[in-house]
Amino acid sequence: MYRLERITLAPFGWEQAEVYLDWVNHEETAHWLTRALPVTRHEHQRWYEGLVNRQDAVVFSVLENESGTYLGNVWLWGIHPVHRSAELRILMGPQAKGKGYGTEACRGLLRFAFNDLNLNKVFLYVLAHNTAAVRAFEKAGFQREGLLPQEFYVAGKYEDALRMSILRS
Ligand SMILES: CC(C)(COP(=O)(O)OP(=O)(O)OC[C@H]1O[C@@H](n2cnc3c(N)ncnc32)[C@H](O)[C@@H]1OP(=O)(O)O)[C@@H](O)C(=O)NCCC(=O)NCCS
Repeated sequence: MYRLERITLAPFGWEQAEVYLDWVNHEETAHWLTRALPVTRHEHQRWYEGLVNRQDAVVFSVLENESGTYLGNVWLWGIHPVHRSAELRILMGPQAKGKGYGTEACRGLLRFAFNDLNLNKVFLYVLAHNTAAVRAFEKAGFQREGLLPQEFYVAGKYEDALRMSILRS
């Protein structure tokens, strides 16, 4: 458990993963996650088991301190043992968006990545027109590394992405 000012980063249980399945199938969310097809329950179960059993990933639920409400997820993916780097991924539920929780979750995950996992660099990919996400990542300290033209094909067209990162120092 990682307790922050308004939220706690806690283990990701299956009961939360079931809620996550509803979120991930929202059209707008699927777009931001660059997913073309809806996720079935069976696929979701396989994804969940793979994620929580991976040695090179750490996944957290984001819980509100006051109410214990499940707000979203943040995780590190592809933790590299030599380069000491990992990719950050995040999804906040529809009720939680725009209240600063996403920024706080990123800051908490970065503290965990640098202090507890001894990582040197955390990076991410985000659609260039995902203004709210880019803003949240910048508030958490991420800097733009570069624009990746037509990196993803989403909802019938190619979309530019940004790669962003933050170093421990
Ligand atoms: C991206 C995401 C994690 C951000 O979390 P959040 O809790 O909504 O973000 P915050 O409230 O901390 O910050 C959002 C910022 O963007 C701003 N913002 C929101 N919508 C905006 C818009 N359409 N245009 C410009 N700014 C916008 C907010 O005002 C806020 O900035 P401020 O604090 O300066 O006012 C969340 O929205 C989410 O899960 N989105 C869907 C999945 C996704 O996009 N994941 C990232 C893929 S890499």
